Amino acid sequence: MKRSLLLCLLIGAGVSNIALADANLARSKNCMACHAVGNKVLGPSFKDIATRYKGQKGAEDKLAQKITKGGSGTWGAVPMPANTQVSDAEARQLVQWIMTLN
Ligand code: HEC
Repeated sequence: MKRSLLLCLLIGAGVSNIALADANLARSKNCMACHAVGNKVLGPSFKDIATRYKGQKGAEDKLAQKITKGGSGTWGAVPMPANTQVSDAEARQLVQWIMTLN
């Protein structure tokens, strides 16, 4: 009993560390200039993005590509510029983080 409780705490701490690391990545890559987790800024909130693409096949590829290359027309008229400071691997990591925010 005690042991499994400890395990839960450890796993819980691990998960929130990962979430924090990715929030920091989003911040350091300037995503938060136009996005916020819970509300629309210039771009849609990350929670809305997670809700929209939840369970969709291929969404991760599509979104990771859109982050690095930019694009428009999905959420409104305002385009997202290409984020050339983000590598493909980082874009994927950011999408995976966004999808946990739902
Ligand atoms: C200059 C402002 C700006 C910056 C910086 C920015 N975004 Fe965006 N983002 C937008 C806008 C505007 C949209 C909506 C585009 C559309 O309607 O197709 C968007 C859309 C998105 C989407 C949803 C795409 C879709 O097709 O549904 C994701 C995911 C996303 N951004 C992630 C990021 C991440 C991660 C970063 C940081 C690397 C980032 N954005 C940086 C403005 C920005």
